[in-house]
Amino acid sequence: MSLQQTNPTTTNAWKQLAQLCKEQAPLHCKDLFRLDPSRAEKLSREWGDFFIDFSKNRITDDTVNLLLELAREMSLDDAIKKFFEGDVINQTEGRAVLHTALRASQSETIEHQGKNVVDDVYEVKEKIASFCKSIIGGVWLGYSGKPFTDIVNIGIGGSDLGPYMVTEALKYYRNHLNLHFVSNIDGDHVHEHLKRLNPETTLFIIVSKSFTTQETLGNAATIKNWFLQTAAEEEIPKHFVAVSSNVSKALEFGIAEANIFPMWDWVGGRFSLWSAVGLSIALGVGYENFELLLDGAHAMDVHFRDSPFNENLPVLMALLTVWYNNFLGAETEAIIPYTQYLHRFSAYLQQGFMESNGKRVDRAGKPVTYQTGTVIWGEPGTNAQHAFFQLMHQGTKLIPADFIGFRRPLHGDKEHHDKLMANFFAQTEALMNGKSREEAEIELEKSNTSPEMIQALLPFKEFPGNNPTTTILIEKLTPHSLGALIAMYEHKIFVQGVLWNIFSFDQWGVELGKQLATTILDEIQSHTPGSHDTSTSQLIKKFFAK
Ligand code: F6P
Repeated sequence: MSLQQTNPTTTNAWKQLAQLCKEQAPLHCKDLFRLDPSRAEKLSREWGDFFIDFSKNRITDDTVNLLLELAREMSLDDAIKKFFEGDVINQTEGRAVLHTALRASQSETIEHQGKNVVDDVYEVKEKIASFCKSIIGGVWLGYSGKPFTDIVNIGIGGSDLGPYMVTEALKYYRNHLNLHFVSNIDGDHVHEHLKRLNPETTLFIIVSKSFTTQETLGNAATIKNWFLQTAAEEEIPKHFVAVSSNVSKALEFGIAEANIFPMWDWVGGRFSLWSAVGLSIALGVGYENFELLLDGAHAMDVHFRDSPFNENLPVLMALLTVWYNNFLGAETEAIIPYTQYLHRFSAYLQQGFMESNGKRVDRAGKPVTYQTGTVIWGEPGTNAQHAFFQLMHQGTKLIPADFIGFRRPLHGDKEHHDKLMANFFAQTEALMNGKSREEAEIELEKSNTSPEMIQALLPFKEFPGNNPTTTILIEKLTPHSLGALIAMYEHKIFVQGVLWNIFSFDQWGVELGKQLATTILDEIQSHTPGSHDTSTSQLIKKFFAK
């Protein structure tokens, strides 16, 4: 059964939220804290080793209650049930969305087309585990009898961003294997990697659900040619494995059938790191840590599926987006992790959120009359503070931001961690409280500045504050907590889609550019310019010119 269809703007909650938004316009978050000493406690939630403080958001009890009412009116509970039960909620592609099955426990039964998919998942997990054992343990050897030292993941989008982000995030847990990720069709990417690789000791994983993606096939072909400069054709099965649902294409490439790890059509690319797409993760941090990552995600799945909305982290986070995006006019959301290990986290989430919820028509195919997906961006703190925080503090845009920090560091260097966390707490405090004209004036008076200069400087020294942030404080960055964190955002994406009445699991918007690139590539290679708008024709001509 498909998801219910309701235009969110027709709900009572939506209408009341619009009214509330007008009434609350003059409110400053700073005042809300003054009015309610229990605000911080009331608007914080604890789950496992996660502590999430929502209190620095522009919300009151009324806002939260109405947002929860909106979730109910949009039948979110029914949508969650259908999602977990494997209904065809990716309707335009006729597919179920079951990445949660990839981290389900073995005793669970999740039926899909009359089959328990959990059995398939565990069969593949065993295959991944034994593959990892033989590669990490140096049992599977390269063509000259040497153990592997380097692993190259060849893939793009969901077949690259997740594994790359996670292996960077879990660098602390990595073993002796060097990991490389080749994604861009720009030759610089692949050739820079090849310069440093030895074909005798390198294993290549071609990751492509479709096995038709131009970038991945282009890079795989270049790498295969490079490999064959030193190795014989029959050595390919030893050095190339694939993760794909297109077995025939992988076989055509020369991969041995036994070395093709399956993918299923009920796993979307951007939600696939939990499947064999995460092979490079399992190789890089060991299979046990890969399991812990899955366990963490599973714990979040259970929390999301079973918790009341008012305690439900992904639900609360998605409701906040709707508040800012649809009522307060925010167009973007920043995600700022305070750990260098998560330096690819925002880039990874960009695909998750923007490919899923960048939609212009509702589930009936009608153009929406309200805003949908937000622009997701961010960089790790403290670097971000010295780059774009000025605009967050004193710019003209409303930018809700998630601050992600860890109580305990992995390196054990207390001095560094105290400094990092001091910044972490200071920034959300500054963003909310700002600095009043009076405070700025007192500060300037203390610095021996002349009265005229004080008056001239005051407008520049004032920070209005009231910039909303959510603080996510986690005990420690472990495979388990990372799994839960990623799953929390995955479910936030799902809830947003339900609330906006859109389909989150297709991505037709990426097709047009791909089609045109195929046409233009033919023109470039045959030196026959085709018919385009004059701008595109002019640019292609410039490219042809000697
Ligand atoms: O860019 C669109 C897309 O289909 C993504 O959704 C996907 O993650 C990526 O391309 C790679 O696709 P594949 O795994 O089939 O090569």
